[in-house]
Amino acid sequence: MPEAKNIGILLSGRGSNFVAIADNIDAGRIPGARIGVVISNRPEAPGIEIARRRGLDARVIPSKGKQREEHDREVVAVLREKQVELVCLAGYMRLLSAWFVQQFPNRVLNIHPALLPSFPGLEGQKQALEYGVKVSGCTVHFVDEQLDHGAIIVQKTVPVYDSDDEHTLADRILEQEHIAYSEAIKIVLEGNYEIVGRRVVRRPALKEVAFPPAM
Ligand code: GRF
Repeated sequence: MPEAKNIGILLSGRGSNFVAIADNIDAGRIPGARIGVVISNRPEAPGIEIARRRGLDARVIPSKGKQREEHDREVVAVLREKQVELVCLAGYMRLLSAWFVQQFPNRVLNIHPALLPSFPGLEGQKQALEYGVKVSGCTVHFVDEQLDHGAIIVQKTVPVYDSDDEHTLADRILEQEHIAYSEAIKIVLEGNYEIVGRRVVRRPALKEVAFPPAM
């Protein structure tokens, strides 16, 4: 068995995406992955307390009053110390510096509660509802130097109902987020994909390559 790959989770709040990822790893649904460290930039984030209770290495690196890159350097130092190979932003309410992104090329993922490129930025669910779309969803994408912009790995859709308010829509999207993030992590860790332009193109499963159907 090759050694498990360390994931670093960065969060600022509730932490439900982190919990879904941790549960999926514990259930063996993301083979070869382990959570190496959970980092919050906010001491009061409920997600960091959950990480502590789960016995994970949970660190608070406060960002308040710090320059972006100064804070990022502290975070990256911990990620390196823990030999993190994949960084997952899970409700991390802070933009990464270009320097951070360059430390982990195509190794930082983010989840956004809308179908990008629609409704980037804050409150994607509210933006979608107010715009009047009939379908919304979530996007897991690689992080590049622009906000909510990098190549898309997984998207999931949900209907928008006339009776929705931003909370009911957000709840429906969140259910899909909890599935989508783990799917994306599995794809990236398995590595059977290429990034072609903006497209994440999955290669045929190895099994299909190794065993072509008999002619
Ligand atoms: C999610 O809606 C996610 O898409 C967005 O921030 C929220 C985080 O929720 N980036 P949680 O902290 O994972 O519960």
